Amino acid sequence: MTNNTIKVNLEQRSYDIIVGNNLGENLQNFLRNQKYSKIIILTDSNLDKLYNPYLKDLFKIDFEYVVVEAGEKTKSFGVLEKVCEEILQKNIDRSTLLVAFGGGVIGDLTGFVASILLRGIDFIQIPTSLLAMVDSSVGGKTAINAQVGKNLIGSFYQPKLVLCDLEFLKTLPVREFQNGYAEVVKYGLIFDKSFFNYLQKNYLSFFDYNQEVLTSVVKRCCEIKAHIVAVDERESSSSGLRAILNFGHTFGHVLEAYFNYSNTLLHGEAVAIGMVMASKMSCNFNMLSSEHYQEIVEHFHKTGFTIDLKKFAKDWSINQLIIHLYKDKKVENKNLVFILLSEIGKAIVKKDVDVSEFEKVVKEFL
Ligand SMILES: NC(=O)c1ccc[n+]([C@@H]2O[C@H](COP(=O)([O-])OP(=O)(O)OC[C@H]3O[C@@H](n4cnc5c(N)ncnc54)[C@H](O)[C@@H]3O)[C@@H](O)[C@H]2O)c1
Repeated sequence: MTNNTIKVNLEQRSYDIIVGNNLGENLQNFLRNQKYSKIIILTDSNLDKLYNPYLKDLFKIDFEYVVVEAGEKTKSFGVLEKVCEEILQKNIDRSTLLVAFGGGVIGDLTGFVASILLRGIDFIQIPTSLLAMVDSSVGGKTAINAQVGKNLIGSFYQPKLVLCDLEFLKTLPVREFQNGYAEVVKYGLIFDKSFFNYLQKNYLSFFDYNQEVLTSVVKRCCEIKAHIVAVDERESSSSGLRAILNFGHTFGHVLEAYFNYSNTLLHGEAVAIGMVMASKMSCNFNMLSSEHYQEIVEHFHKTGFTIDLKKFAKDWSINQLIIHLYKDKKVENKNLVFILLSEIGKAIVKKDVDVSEFEKVVKEFL
């Protein structure tokens, strides 16, 4: 499995991402080389039901266990406090290891807990959703949500290992699988045209859970994210490279917020529409050709995404959308920043975009 190991190069914070099937042995190998006094797995109620009886067999390690309710509401101060207290009652010390076993919600919460307990203990990620495998488990962004917005309380805190065991995808609900695919396409659009071409050719096998295709896709996404994070860990360098991962997310967050982060529109579904809108804006600025734009729209149609906003609500309030737009944490001093495309595979950070450009694009989708 060594050929499926990707290194995230961050000097003393470097770590491996391993992609494959049945990775219990890789976990044992990692633990053999460390001296952890205690291992505590944090998971959600859905995964608890599905996997609790098998985890000891799967991982072949001794561990303690903390379960939280499944769902985005778990990324809250209330749950954070409860989880910290529960873990502290287990008599942990600085050499306790936390394991995030779940989707992005569990990964974000566990990472944040690990970063603040005893001023920081080690944690590893065992992502179980596609979105978590290709995106949230890599890169060290941890967070809970605030009343005024998502992911506003958190830290940059890198895991010690990421194990993407594709076996877990077999129980992931189909809608969640498709949700994660939006982030997969994003990597092709912002960074790697040949990867986008690969998806164009292989998406049917991907949605058929073909293991070879799944492995290549998850691996390529992790390679791209690892590269971007290594160049710009805190989304701060002058290169602005990490910011390109937000492609489609400004539009997407506005749509998610409009529906109050409900099941009407999952994150990936909103980001897919957001990527099409950002591509349209790129065309409006004469940056992206209409041929490339059509290719992008068609790919999302073929892979089952709904792009037509009228299908989600009859009467849209553009003013309400603009209110949400200005609450986005990527808006700097009221200056609108959008990640746009100059071609498939090449993203550009566009600053000082006038709000009328946002309105113009939104109107084209209503
Ligand atoms: N830190 C980052 O860089 C980053 C990046 C992107 C998204 N995120 C965060 O990730 C979260 C979304 O992640 P998500 O889509 O994984 O959501 P999630 O963790 O809520 O998982 C989605 C659903 O799938 C279930 N599930 C997960 N794995 C399963 C499996 N193998 N079998 C059966 N059910 C399974 C979960 O219980 C949940 O109901 C958001 O909170 C978002 O803010 C973080």
